[in-house]
Amino acid sequence: MTPTTTARALETERESLTRNYNPLPVVAVSAKGAWVTDVEGKKYLDCLAAYSAVNFGHGNKTLIRAARKQLGKLTLTSRAFYHDQLGPFAKELAALLRMDMVLPMNTGAEAVESAIKVSRAWGYRVKGVAANKAKIIVAKENFHGRTISIVSFSTDESSRKDFGPFTPGFVSVPYGDAEALEKEIDANTVAVLIEPIQGEAGIITPPKGYLKKVRALTKANNVLMIADEIQSGLGRTGATVQCNNEKVVPDMYILGKALGGGIVPVSAVVGRKEVMGVLKPGEHGSTFGGNPLAAAVGLAVVRMLAKGDMQRRSQRLGKHLKKRLEALVGKGVLAVRGAGLWAGIDIDPTLATGREVCEALMRKGVLAKDTHGSTIRLAPPLIVSKKDLDWGIDQLEAVLAELRSR
Ligand SMILES: Cc1ncc(COP(=O)(O)O)c(C=O)c1O
Repeated sequence: MTPTTTARALETERESLTRNYNPLPVVAVSAKGAWVTDVEGKKYLDCLAAYSAVNFGHGNKTLIRAARKQLGKLTLTSRAFYHDQLGPFAKELAALLRMDMVLPMNTGAEAVESAIKVSRAWGYRVKGVAANKAKIIVAKENFHGRTISIVSFSTDESSRKDFGPFTPGFVSVPYGDAEALEKEIDANTVAVLIEPIQGEAGIITPPKGYLKKVRALTKANNVLMIADEIQSGLGRTGATVQCNNEKVVPDMYILGKALGGGIVPVSAVVGRKEVMGVLKPGEHGSTFGGNPLAAAVGLAVVRMLAKGDMQRRSQRLGKHLKKRLEALVGKGVLAVRGAGLWAGIDIDPTLATGREVCEALMRKGVLAKDTHGSTIRLAPPLIVSKKDLDWGIDQLEAVLAELRSR
């Protein structure tokens, strides 16, 4: 039997790559808008959008144009010198979020690490916490990335096992429980680090008013509130950031993923001057953070979001998505959660695992990802058409019907 092009591509990858992922067997070669084409020419509706890094669609013309223009001019200087893209990017990004200062990095995890460093430095230099006593409160079931410090406060055993020893200075409390959080706040607490919606945990939305309570508690106790909007931000939930939907303003936002327009890794901590201003030259940095190409693409993303169309589209289509998914409850779906064009769908585990549902969806031409056993998440690019979105949900409905009739 001749191996298919897909099988050959999978084999080549498997030979020389570490096995830290277990991807679905789709070998993408090109993509446009919300559609991905594989090595065999089959088309798939992308309902993951690279975990929201491709919020504005594959090959978004405006963003590609900005990248191409910058590629021909200047791509890297390091922060040893100034360049003409970083200032405008920082200024407009801060303005978009009604904040003062930006610390540019590359990946999400780096930006989370950066926010932790800033909040600890703020704790010692401004709040007056004794040396090395700073405490940061996080939520159980969090996902903030994969570095040693970040997995130190993960409650997911598979993220931690055999990676110790871990970084001290973190405690976790149940997500959505403001009373538990209040009990943990003491004189050494410098920050509460939280996802406004827990993405990897299964698009878990906290009880109404929770984020407001977190804001009130942190304010009252001189503690920083850090919102990790790496996955929830930049239009995904129908607002620029999910905190806007909850009418909450944290001290720092952490952004990543879609900030790079699906082209380059761009992340940032964006916050108030009184907090971000604690860093002095030489204390923190990154060779690539804020590079000209990243800043040019990031600026184009910010300008796109400043118009508000993406957020409105996500809100409008999100309502439709919710309605259609809720109609599947009782038909193989146990529960549906989400905001904007972002949905977590709990599949009845007696029918199939989340992975099996995603594999069946793949065969029908839809790319989605499972999480935590029997949950699947949908996060199509925000530019997806209503017709394509409906077609994707039809495929899910068909998969569930097939599973029910087995
Ligand atoms: C909320 C959140 N924070 C941080 C990260 C880590 O980002 P990265 O994979 O770019 O390091 C992720 C990635 O999924 C995330 O969802």
